[in-house]
Amino acid sequence: MNDQNAADFPTYLNEVADRVTVALDRLIPPAEGPEAQLMRAMRYASLATGKRLRPFFVIAFGELFGAPEKSLLRTAAALECIHTYSLIHDDLPCMDDDDLRRGQPTVHKRFDEATAVLAGDALLTLAFEILSHPDTHQDGSVRCKLIEKLSRASGAQGMVGGQMIDMLAGDVRQDLNSITRMQRLKTGALIAYAGEAACILGGASDQQRSAVTGFTHDLGLAYQIADDLLDVEGNEAELGKGVGKDADAGKANFVTLLGKDGARQRVEMLAEQAKEHLAIFRNRAHLLLQSVDFVLQRRH
Ligand code: IPE
Ligand code: IPE
Ligand code: MG
Ligand code: MG
Ligand code: MG
Repeated sequence: MNDQNAADFPTYLNEVADRVTVALDRLIPPAEGPEAQLMRAMRYASLATGKRLRPFFVIAFGELFGAPEKSLLRTAAALECIHTYSLIHDDLPCMDDDDLRRGQPTVHKRFDEATAVLAGDALLTLAFEILSHPDTHQDGSVRCKLIEKLSRASGAQGMVGGQMIDMLAGDVRQDLNSITRMQRLKTGALIAYAGEAACILGGASDQQRSAVTGFTHDLGLAYQIADDLLDVEGNEAELGKGVGKDADAGKANFVTLLGKDGARQRVEMLAEQAKEHLAIFRNRAHLLLQSVDFVLQRRH
């Protein structure tokens, strides 16, 4: 992706999405033999049309810092593997019990539950296989750092920990602080990783790093609140996933706590804050600025 400055956000996001899909297609080849169904399910989930927003952040920030393209693409693909695994498991009957994802039947509906669990497991481990390969970066200590940060963002201190809190959110009384913490873990941690990985690969300065962290922090939270709003206000055909599920499940989130208007105001406030963090990059960050508006306005 050569000319970040000339592109507008939708074009650039499409380009990122295509490149990530091609990379995933190569990284998850169809298999033969009795385990072939596992790869079919992994490909089914990961080659479906996701927005690829996390890969966008890896690549857009990485390019700002002059990080190598191939490293960024492989890291973006690894992160998308983790995200896709989290969605497959999130949709299982024992969790959110959803039938539709990315505009198609969920993996356990299309295949079966055991295949969905295993496809998620295999995408999780594939992410680390990708990062640990020398093609991701020639320097082993850089690869190790990428792996350390992704392990943390994905596990008990990150996405999986947040999912646990989410599962309990109907039973335990939640206040704004506990909901904020849950969202930061379940969604924020992987979005924050996108920025962290770009900083590692691009050798960002401390000042740049803290701007990126501030941005992904605010944007990640805004993204999940927007997702909660879409669960109430969105439409299934546009979203490509079911709606009204959070209320049915008695889930506490920003919308149940603040109401729709309050949640919307919070998204707008966080979006403004996110943009302020980009000020140090001046007009070089114009795609990242546009990505904030995309989150504000998204219908899917
Ligand atoms: C859905 O993520 C789950 C959340 C963390 C909000 P996305 O909205 O990024 O889903 P895809 O990747 O585009 O399908
Ligand atoms: C899911 O949050 C977050 C993760 C998968 C980590 P949701 O349960 O709100 O996501 P959707 O609405 O099913 O996409
Ligand atoms: Mg969920
Ligand atoms: Mg869900
Ligand atoms: Mg949701």
